[in-house]
Amino acid sequence: MIQAVIFDLDGVIIDTAHYHYIAWKRLASEFGITLTPAHNELLKGVSRMRSLEIILSLGNIALSQEQKELLAEKKNTWFVEYIESIRPEEIFPGVLDLIQNLRKRKIKIGLASSSKNAPRVIELLGIARDFDTLIDGTMINQTKPDPEIFLLAAHRLGVDPTHCLVFEDAEAGVEAARAAGMKCVGVGQPSQLGKADKVIAHTGDFNLNDLNSL
Ligand code: BG6
Ligand code: MG
Repeated sequence: MIQAVIFDLDGVIIDTAHYHYIAWKRLASEFGITLTPAHNELLKGVSRMRSLEIILSLGNIALSQEQKELLAEKKNTWFVEYIESIRPEEIFPGVLDLIQNLRKRKIKIGLASSSKNAPRVIELLGIARDFDTLIDGTMINQTKPDPEIFLLAAHRLGVDPTHCLVFEDAEAGVEAARAAGMKCVGVGQPSQLGKADKVIAHTGDFNLNDLNSL
């Protein structure tokens, strides 16, 4: 029986994944690298520094740690500018209803995002109180696909990982959930998220009748 549902943030609750993409694309173009949607799938769910390293490897570019930190900071400045205008109306359709209906069933609700900006996004959306626990990129040592973030969320919720269900839009996130021993619903394309127990196009498409039969 599922006792807790853990949501990723970027690309699952709101389309901030798009802002990460355009900020990385802008940075990559400064190095003559054309970032494609296919490349972007590799950046989803992983940490800021890991994303940068993936981009630099596409152009066979080697930089010092100091240079990489400056670039990661540059991308983040753009990302933070982009997200400042987000509003609660931009939460994906059906997400708040889904959370409410889970709560009615006494299911615990967690958020597990690799983003260090997750607290700001949650604040702008006004949804902090919808979650029993909030885990962000400042609280973990290993980035997805490592299961650390989901195991920490389960621990905070007091639920055994085998009774947790994760919603993820990133391949690395699906892998992290499975490595944590959790069920996983992929939000996006089956071609990318085939390791999930089920793939849906939009978070709000989830049918609660499927909760215990994944
Ligand atoms: C994840 C995104 O949620 O957060 C990644 O899917 C992003 O694309 C990562 O790189 C880290 O985000 P931030 O805000 O700490 O740079
Ligand atoms: Mg995501």
